Amino acid sequence: MKTETPLIDNFGRPLNYLRLAVTDRCNLRCLYCMPAGGIEYIPQSEILTYEEMERLVRLVVRLGVRKLRITGGEPFVRRNIMGFLRRVAGIPGLEEIHMTTNGVLTAPFVPELKRIGICGINLSLDAVDREAFRRVTRRDEFERVWASFQAILAHGIRLKINAVIQQGMNEDQIVPLARLARDYPVAVRFIEEMPFNGSSASHGRQHWDYARLLAELQRAFPDLKPLPGKPHTTAREFSVPGFQGTLGIIAGYSRLFCDECNRMRITARGLLKLCLYDTGMLNLKEMLRSGAGDDQLEAAIRRCAGRRFANGFQAEAHARKANPAYESMSEIGG
Ligand code: 5AD
Ligand code: SF4
Repeated sequence: MKTETPLIDNFGRPLNYLRLAVTDRCNLRCLYCMPAGGIEYIPQSEILTYEEMERLVRLVVRLGVRKLRITGGEPFVRRNIMGFLRRVAGIPGLEEIHMTTNGVLTAPFVPELKRIGICGINLSLDAVDREAFRRVTRRDEFERVWASFQAILAHGIRLKINAVIQQGMNEDQIVPLARLARDYPVAVRFIEEMPFNGSSASHGRQHWDYARLLAELQRAFPDLKPLPGKPHTTAREFSVPGFQGTLGIIAGYSRLFCDECNRMRITARGLLKLCLYDTGMLNLKEMLRSGAGDDQLEAAIRRCAGRRFANGFQAEAHARKANPAYESMSEIGG
């Protein structure tokens, strides 16, 4: 394998983690992600093909990417996702592949995910009871998601739970969700709601931000102890004596982790984003489809890395100017 100088941004941060959104489609309608009617899906022809995605993954691995997260939308609604996963699993130099899924369709695939070496799965789960689950996702799919939860644990794949807490919707689920970390070896992470909900409606209400989530966890679990931070992590993690797993808070809105952000994203449409809050720094799909060679792609990606925003606030300030409405997280890749 030809290795090159690894990608480093203009602030000295390595870019060695790619989050790839393989589709914008989803079989749930989570309130914080999509309007009730769904978003207007991107036409299939505007979504990167598996061949295009594989070529991009191989290219960024040559530029130093070591970890890949497959996300969406819901990855398992895209036809033949397993065929794609098997191919990327064979890319030399790629050390870890992770997935983010809502768990509705995941359970039957778990044995094969284990076989091909998927390192970890982040399961989006905002409630542990059926009614609350339906309130948040607008779909009655709790049972199938729970089957996926069990299957992932049974196969020994590292499991993290992502829970977005919304005022008036599922704050009563914070403690029951946290107790999953008592009963199972899972990392339960509470995520601040971010403004990526597919509409320009501001996500107002009283916000469950880092401080408020922490206060609620401390109230319920007075023995909560901060764990030492891991490099590049977005979650502040905590332990509770007697718990098998850990608790965490991801301050995606307060943006407490930008200083050491090592992530880049490729959206379902094939845009390169170097921050969740930027509007896309490069149209990779257009380059691929107009016949760009790997050298041209590499040069363009390096140019973007050289003018990366310092943090999510600066990226957002530019984005708001360009486009006041935020797209859905399902297009960006959560
Ligand atoms: N704010 C915070 N997190 C979100 N996600 C989706 N939309 C939002 C939002 N508006 C998260 C979900 C899921 C992941 C794909 O992205 O929790 O786990
Ligand atoms: Fe689907 Fe995830 Fe968006 Fe929920 S948050 S609607 S599971 S893409």
